[in-house]
Amino acid sequence: MTTRRQVLTGAGGLVLSVAAASGAMGLVSCAATQQKEAPTPQAVAQLQQAADAQQLPWPYKALDPVATAERGYKAYYDGGCMYGAFEAIIGELRAAVGAPYNTLPTKMMAYGKAGVNGWGTLCGALNGGAAAIYVVSDDKTRDQLIDELYSWYSQEAMPQYTPKNPKFQKIATSTSESPLCHISVTKWCNASGFAALSPERAERCAWVTASVAKYVAEMLNSNAQASFKAAHTIPAAVTQCLACHGKGGAKENVHASRMTSCTQCHTDLGPKHPGSR
Ligand code: HEC
Ligand code: HEC
Repeated sequence: MTTRRQVLTGAGGLVLSVAAASGAMGLVSCAATQQKEAPTPQAVAQLQQAADAQQLPWPYKALDPVATAERGYKAYYDGGCMYGAFEAIIGELRAAVGAPYNTLPTKMMAYGKAGVNGWGTLCGALNGGAAAIYVVSDDKTRDQLIDELYSWYSQEAMPQYTPKNPKFQKIATSTSESPLCHISVTKWCNASGFAALSPERAERCAWVTASVAKYVAEMLNSNAQASFKAAHTIPAAVTQCLACHGKGGAKENVHASRMTSCTQCHTDLGPKHPGSR
C-alpha cells in the first residue's frame, strides 16, 4: 500500500503504478509527462489542506459578536434567514482564518429560508446557527450549544439585536415558545399587527437572524475558553409530559428530547390528563 505521504511526494511513481495496475497504456504517456515535474511544495500543501478540511471541527478564532450580528443582518437580505445566520459565523471566520472556510459554499444554506423553502418548519436562523456550531465545535460540546440556542430562542422575547442601520427604527418583540418558523412568525404578527409577508416582518426576521448570529458567536467564544454554561433549561411542565411520553415512559410515543411548551399545541387534553389546563 502507498501511504498518503508517498502519494503526495511521489506523484510520478503513483501514476506509473496506477497505469500498470489498470493496464491502460494511454496513462503511461500521461505519467511520463507528470514524472518530469515533481509536485511543488504549494501543491503538496494544498492537497494536505484539502485532506484536513474533511475533518471537523475546523479551527476557531474568537469572533466579534457585534460584527457577526451585522454580517448576519446584511446576509439575510442576500439569501434569507438560514444563509444569514450561517454566513454570519462562517463569513467572519473566512475573513479571520481563511482556509478551509474559503472552500465552503455558504449560499447552499439559502434552502432553509422561512422554515425550508417557505414551509414554515424549523426557523432558518436556528437551522443555520446549528450548522455553523457543527462546523466549529466538537462531539463533547456541540449538542449542548445547539440545545442552549434553541431554548434561548424559544424562551426569550425576540428579536434582541438592533442593527446599526435598520430599515425600520422599531420592531416589536414576541416570545415563540417554539423553534418553528410558523409559530414564531405568526405570534409576532399577532403581537405587532403586521402581515406575515410584509417588509416589517422581513425586517423582524433579519433582526432575529442577527440576534441568533450574535448569540452563537458569544456561545462559541465562551466554549473556546471552556467557560460555556447553558443558561436555559427544559421547563418543568415539559419534563412532566416527557416523564410518560418520552424515553422509557409509560406511553413512550413522543420523539422530542426537549421543547419549551407541549400545551401550546395540545390545548385539549382531557380534564383528567396530567398537565391539562
Ligand atoms: C402520568 C403519565 C402521563 C403524563 C405525565 C402525561 N401523559 Fe399524555 N398520556 C398518557 C397516557 C397513558 C396516554 C394514553 C391514554 C389513552 O390511551 O387513553 C396519554 C395520551 C396523551 C395524548 C393523546 C390524546 C389524549 O388526550 O388522550 C396527548 C396529546 C398527550 N397525552 C399529551 C400529553 C401532554 C402534552 C402532557 C404534559 C402536559 C402529558 N400528555 C402528560 C400519560 C401521560
Ligand atoms: C407544534 C405543535 C405541537 C407541539 C409543540 C407538540 N405536539 Fe404533540 N402532536 C402534535 C400533532 C399535530 C400531533 C398529531 C395529531 C394528534 O394526534 O393530535 C401530536 C401528537 C401527539 C401525541 C399522540 C396523540 C395521540 O392521539 O395519540 C402525543 C402523546 C403528543 N403529541 C405529546 C406531546 C408532548 C409530550 C409534547 C411536548 C414535549 C408535544 N406533543 C408537543 C402537535 C404538537
